[in-house]
This record gives sequence, structure tokens and C-alpha cells, in this order.
Amino acid sequence: MPRPATVHVCSACGHETPRWTGRCSGCGEWNTLVEEVRPTAVRGGRSGPASRSAAGPAATPVRLAEVAAEDHRRLVTGIGELDNVLGGGLVPGSLVLIGGAPGIGKSTLTTMALARLGSHGLTTLYVSAEESAAQIRLRAQRLGPSALELPVIAETDLTTVLATLEAERPQVCVIDSVQTIVSDQLSSAAGSVAQVREVADAIMRVAKTHRIAVLLVGHVTKEGALAGPRVLEHLVDCVLQFEGERERTYRTLRATKNRFGSTNQAGVFEMRDSGLVEVLDASARFVAEATRAPGSVVLAAMEGTRPLLVEVQALVSASELEQPRRVVAGFDRNRLAVVLAVLGRHARIGCGHADVFVNVVGGVRIDEPGADLAVALAVASAVRGVALTGPGGRPLACFGELGLTGELRSVAHADRRIAEARRYGLSAVIEPSGQPTVRGAVAAALGRGDRADPIAA
Ligand code: TYD
Ligand code: MG
Repeated sequence: MPRPATVHVCSACGHETPRWTGRCSGCGEWNTLVEEVRPTAVRGGRSGPASRSAAGPAATPVRLAEVAAEDHRRLVTGIGELDNVLGGGLVPGSLVLIGGAPGIGKSTLTTMALARLGSHGLTTLYVSAEESAAQIRLRAQRLGPSALELPVIAETDLTTVLATLEAERPQVCVIDSVQTIVSDQLSSAAGSVAQVREVADAIMRVAKTHRIAVLLVGHVTKEGALAGPRVLEHLVDCVLQFEGERERTYRTLRATKNRFGSTNQAGVFEMRDSGLVEVLDASARFVAEATRAPGSVVLAAMEGTRPLLVEVQALVSASELEQPRRVVAGFDRNRLAVVLAVLGRHARIGCGHADVFVNVVGGVRIDEPGADLAVALAVASAVRGVALTGPGGRPLACFGELGLTGELRSVAHADRRIAEARRYGLSAVIEPSGQPTVRGAVAAALGRGDRADPIAA
């Protein structure tokens, strides 16, 4: 019988078996076996105890100061928001993973970036394993003439993709997507843990050898994690998350890992008919669009190192359900539970038997503790039916983290948040240095008028 070309290795204990089983017979863990290509070159030399103790050639440690610094000249795409998030452009030979939900605009962004680089005279290649060349052309037509100049291949086979990269040696390449390329060495389906790891690993080796900057497009699961193994995130140099809601126009791009820059940067884009457009003055737009009705407040948020004003809205309505609904968009659902509990206990604003809906307007996702107070004030304003406005009828701005004992905790960059609010004419800002407690903050926001609580539990 021929030897199997692959083995199944337990990701918990390293136990190997020729066939997949649900439970590892080595350590007893469930669903930990991952198919791997059997390494032919080192067969037999890997596990023998003798090979470990054998005196092989030792490596010579080098003082870091004596290590030659690599030349990290960046490939600037010219899409400012993208370059910023990358830390100043693409690094040759690096792997950048762009994750996002279907339809968010990953293919659009990568096509635009490649088109810009191509028009600056760099050699490029677009590998599509999801769409046919004709479909890519349709998209490119919307993006302008430079996009139509891009060389593309529509290919799902890893061997062909690698051979094309070897032959073409582009300076920049897009793989759209890493989950749809398959290696015929493995019997598991495209997108499985083993496949994604094999594909990413093989592409990385070619990229490092020929100093190709690779943009890997990756899918995101319903929970928001990158589909496929965590190893993918470990393997690449940079992980970018493209977020927002498909039906809305605003999208944010942020780095969750960056070996060549900070992970503090975020970019805001708008999807238009002719592709993604950078939103340079997002605060101004969100403030202008703010409703000033009960249930609305402006959050002075930080998107990375940049302040951003966004509107947070809440609706609280009597529920017909045994277990009332808690629906959020752009904010963490568990965090909403904490905010509601703190509001009920420490500010006497209860929503026990009411449905609560919270929405960060414009499809923006806010993922920072400073958003707590905005959610709390929007809910309080909705419950009491009081519109939150500052002097001159301008929207009220706020930020701060809610502590479980009812205190308002300070968050980073308070001065920059306040400055951003002032810049757009929001002089009333409720924040931790002025209001040390949640109760005080809610009272200051609502005014001290004691109104009947229509929906309190
Ligand atoms: P796409 O980039 O294909 O998303 P992904 O690769 O992340 O799945 O496109 C996302 C959506 O954007 C698609 O529904 C069509 C729309 N779109 C525009 O509104 N304007 C455009 O110029 C383009 C190219 C796409
Ligand atoms: Mg796509």
C-alpha cells in the first residue's frame, strides 16, 4: 500500500495518526486533529530522541546592534487611509491579511490599491480564486482606467498560483481569497484549517524569497473572527480588519496586528458607485447628521490615534417578550448588558422589561471603553424621553468608561477628544474629569428635572 502523503496531527499534543478521527487518541481532546502534508525531506529525522541530543552545528548569537538593518522602503499605495493603517505603505516581502465580511469591499479595496501601485510603475498581479476574470473586469470598469491595466489570473490551484508568482515575480500581489485556493496535496476541503495554513505558508515562502508584497484577502466568520486558523494571524506580518455594515456606506479599516507599524491607526472609507472613497472629515459629517432627538448623543471616540465624533442612538420600548431584546449595532452586546446593569443600579434608570436597541450611526464599529458613557446616556435619554443638547441646541458630546461600582473612569486621550468636540462646535462635553460618577453624569445630561419614568421596571 502506498504511504499516505498526509498525516493528521493533534494541535494540542502533537500526536500523529494517518486518518482523521474526531478525538485524538494521544491526549483525548476533541476536534484537534489537523491534516498536514508529511514533510518528506526530514522524514524520520524529526522525532527520534537520538537526533535531539546529537551535537549538530551550533548557531552563533549576534548582538542586535550588529545586525544589519533591513531596508524597509515602503510601497506607497496613494490611498492615504490604507497607507496610514499599514504604517506608511506596504513593506516588500511582507504578508498583509485583509479580513472582512462578504460584500464589505475587500476586493474593491485591494483592486484599487493594486491599480494605484501599477500606475506608479510597479509590477502587480491579481490572483482571484473567487471570481472569473470577466467579473473582475466588471468591477475594474467602475474603478477607472488604471484598474483595467491590472494583470489578473482566475485560479484556485495553489501549484499554479505559486508557479505564476515564480514566473511573473510581481512586486505586489493580491490573493483573493486565501480560503478559496486549494492545495491538491491535502484531501481536506478548501477553506479548512489545514488548507488555509498550507496555502498561506507556501505563499509566504515565495513572497519572502522574491520580496513580493502580498495582500491576502480573508473571510470573517459570523462572530467576527477571521475564518480559518489563528495560525494564519500568527503567520502574516499585518492583519487588517475591514468593518462596517454592508448596507451602509461607511467602513472602517483597522490594523489588529502590524509588525511594521502601530495597531492604533484606523481609516474611514465610504463606498460609492466608483469604488471606495476616503472620508477625511468623518467627524464633521457625523455631527451634521446627528438627530438631537431623545435617545441620541455624540460620542467623542478615538479611532486609533485619531479622534472621531460619532452619534450613538438608543431606543427603549416596552417589550412583549418574556426575555426582552437587547439589539446592538457597532457596539459589544455583552458590554451593553454591563452598561444597563450599572445604569439600573447606580443611576436608577431601569430597562428590565423593555427592549433596548443601540446603534452607532453610519455603520461605524466602536470598540473602546470610552463608548460606555455614550451608550448609557443615549439609553437614559431614551428612557426619560429627554433630548440631550448643549448650548445653542448643539448635540451633547461625551466619553468615559463605566465602572461596576458606579464610577466614571477616565480613558486615554481625554484632551484630544474634548478638542475634537470643541472643533465641531460641541462645547458641552460630559466626561470623567468633570463627573466622577455615572449618576452625576446622567443627572447632568438630563438636567435635574424629575420626570416620570414611563418604562422603568
Ligand atoms: P466587493 O469588493 O466585491 O466586496 P468583498 O470582496 O469584500 O466581498 O464589493 C462590495 C460591494 O460594494 C458590492 O456589493 C458592490 C459594491 N460596490 C459599490 O458600491 N461601488 C463600487 O464601485 C464597487 C466596485 C462595488
Ligand atoms: Mg471579494
